[in-house]
Amino acid sequence: MTFDRPIKIAPSILSADFANFGAEIRAIENQGADWIHVDVMDGHFVPNLTFGPAAVKSFRPHVCTFMDVHLMISPVDPYIEAYANAGADLITAHVEAGPHIHRTIQTIKATGKMAGVSLNPATSVESVRHVLDMVDLVLVMTINPGFGGQDFIPSCIDKIRCIREMIADRPVYLQVDGGINGHTAAQVVRAGADVLVAGSAVFAGGSVDAPEIYGNNIRHIRAEAAKGMIAESGEF
Ligand code: DX5
Ligand code: ZN
Repeated sequence: MTFDRPIKIAPSILSADFANFGAEIRAIENQGADWIHVDVMDGHFVPNLTFGPAAVKSFRPHVCTFMDVHLMISPVDPYIEAYANAGADLITAHVEAGPHIHRTIQTIKATGKMAGVSLNPATSVESVRHVLDMVDLVLVMTINPGFGGQDFIPSCIDKIRCIREMIADRPVYLQVDGGINGHTAAQVVRAGADVLVAGSAVFAGGSVDAPEIYGNNIRHIRAEAAKGMIAESGEF
């Protein structure tokens, strides 16, 4: 398989300074972020709490690229319209969040936003097979969701490969999230991922006063990811 799609780096603002989101978003975009990844947690579906729709709406004016909203909440359907109105460009829901993922995706699409579907590390790839024609993105969790800074789960590589094959020629992004850094980036790209979420690996050591460190981190992940593309296309 030849990879001609550009790799996107989507920093998760879960690792940003929570007192300074506007400046943090501007800093990572100036330093090369392709998308801004917003992790929404409810203290029920995952054991952590983050951003309601009002918070996400307050991020919107600072985002010049693309706002990718990852909903780790259950139930999810009653809140989709609020996150769409908050300015999400793409809304991702989990297959584990309720019994009717098909309806959830219909609800997202009805808002006019792009739709993503996500699956946790222990969830079978079969859970997304029958919605692939409806979605714009599949998010393979490479950690158990809830917190940044966890170790990448190696068994997820095989899932990425399976889902890339299942996606085939569809215009569907394959995103990975959790434990992505310079070391794991090439592995996930080689398996077929094309959107890489990274929190701690982007924000490590930097700040709005030292944004060039964010830039170095993003360039490092991108360069390592490119090695996975070269390896996959058989050039070495
Ligand atoms: C976790 C979130 C991730 C998280 C990734 O539930 O979905 O986006 O912020 O953080 P790192 O890159 O530090 O593993
Ligand atoms: Zn996420």
